[in-house]
Amino acid sequence: MIFKNLQLNKGIEDKLFNTLYSLSIKKLSEHHWTPVEVAKLAADYLVDKPKCKVLDIGSGVGKFCLIGATSTKGRFYGVEQRSRLVKLSQKIANTHKIKNVEFIHSNITQVSFSKYNSFYFYNSFYENIGRFQAIDTTIPLEEKLYYSYSQYVENQLKKTPIGTRLVTYWSEWLEIPEGFDLEFTAYDGKLNFWEKKF
Ligand SMILES: C[S@@+](CC[C@H](N)C(=O)[O-])C[C@H]1O[C@@H](n2cnc3c(N)ncnc32)[C@H](O)[C@@H]1O
Repeated sequence: MIFKNLQLNKGIEDKLFNTLYSLSIKKLSEHHWTPVEVAKLAADYLVDKPKCKVLDIGSGVGKFCLIGATSTKGRFYGVEQRSRLVKLSQKIANTHKIKNVEFIHSNITQVSFSKYNSFYFYNSFYENIGRFQAIDTTIPLEEKLYYSYSQYVENQLKKTPIGTRLVTYWSEWLEIPEGFDLEFTAYDGKLNFWEKKF
């Protein structure tokens, strides 16, 4: 019913989407997983043609990718450094037979952006400097990683072609290179829609 409604472009509540997850994952929802409406808006913008390949930089429990894959004609790829979250995301995709999505267990610094057409970024590196609830303690969290990961994303985005689309949510814009213009903004400036112009 959740994915059926998304396919039919019907709105669904985050509370309903969260029923896919265990209590411990639900508890992280407010700070770590994209709200359904935000994911739909972002995915719609990022998929500007059918089969467009969208990369979610730090895909968590797969929420953005699963919503994008169901509500658009794009192909969604989520890169996530925590293996248990990758397994969980893939399990949901398999259970619900969502084919146009793939989850990759990797650090983003091992991923070349050249294979993808557009990008989604929900301030994924902030947990290295933030004070709110950490997802878990399975990976080292260090301030210097916030800067080195942001730098890596900026360098990769620099190499993308003109016309590349990017959506950022709660970002501090550190990872956005010169050449990306802000096309639209929503949610009091927290959700931003970018396109590369030069
Ligand atoms: C704020 S959550 C966003 C999850 C998902 N994109 C969403 O919107 O629902 C950020 C995720 O990025 C992951 N992450 C952080 N740094 C990463 C890195 N260097 N490489 C891969 N994943 C990373 C975290 O483990 C976390 O699951």
